[in-house]
Amino acid sequence: MSMSKPPSSASAPAKLILCGEHAVVYGRPAIALPLAGVRANVQVDQGRPGSGITLRATNLHQEWKVDGASPDPLGELALATLHHLGIPPSDLVIMIDSAIPIAGGMGSGAAVATALVRALAAHIGCVLPAGEISALVYTCEQRYHGTPSGIDNTVIAHERPIWFERRMGSGQRRTVNHIEPVAIANPLTLVIGDTGVRSETRLPVGEVRQRWQADPTTYEALFDQVGSLVRQAREALAMGDHESLGPLLNENQRLLETMGVSSPELARLVQAARDAGASGAKLSGAGWGGVMLALADDDDITRRAIVGALKRAGAVQVLETQIESSVLV
Ligand code: MEV
Repeated sequence: MSMSKPPSSASAPAKLILCGEHAVVYGRPAIALPLAGVRANVQVDQGRPGSGITLRATNLHQEWKVDGASPDPLGELALATLHHLGIPPSDLVIMIDSAIPIAGGMGSGAAVATALVRALAAHIGCVLPAGEISALVYTCEQRYHGTPSGIDNTVIAHERPIWFERRMGSGQRRTVNHIEPVAIANPLTLVIGDTGVRSETRLPVGEVRQRWQADPTTYEALFDQVGSLVRQAREALAMGDHESLGPLLNENQRLLETMGVSSPELARLVQAARDAGASGAKLSGAGWGGVMLALADDDDITRRAIVGALKRAGAVQVLETQIESSVLV
């Protein structure tokens, strides 16, 4: 009697950019956080003999075969992962089930891709290091987003708060990623408001690129200001100084508005959160839609006031999350 292999599964978290999005594409630092409670799940099962690789997005009610000659980005990632693991493509059914809004600024694509790589590795009883997963997922991100900085795949694969900076490699045109853990002295309470507007990352990223190409002096100066506030935000996090952090997030929002990546819906939620007592609020991710975040003090009354204000201002979903303190070891 032949025993069929049990399915293997894995998951990966959503992400939030606390500060520094867009400027991070141009070599300035950014701080990103994993959202442990909002996840993408992938299960890998043996398929029928000769059926090839099937991808099934259960919550989107979609199913497709991976075409070896011209695979879609996720199919290509599955093939690349099998190649990386040293196993030939076989008959597999890969089921994706994600609670992360698509094109909502929370890293849905990178989280699905990370869960897929982890689940394929688990299928052969292997655990890949975060750096290898991140590199595989980055190639997939490039297919979707054009010129991603790599911050999404990095924070999701490492699953801890990170400082991320792209630096030019010595004497080459290649960039190397500088990644450091971020110390958080006091837990952070964040309220996340979803505008419900879906916007593909590559669109605002392309807009900023065009503006930068048209006026590099102005945009380099804007990116420098973002880099400076991200450095101050790291200090504030390390000191547990949330009073300083809030205004830095507000300043980041102002600079993102100048870059042209906010939207009326985002601006309305940001203002509502501030009016309700958030010490800082800004869009998070690429912008033109998706989510914003608000820094709530550690008291229930303000937190609940922010949640209520975001709902009244049109948020289709409001999430609360606590980012635990973390020390550098
Ligand atoms: C998207 O999560 C963050 C952006 O900075 C794009 C990127 O870094 O690739 C807008």
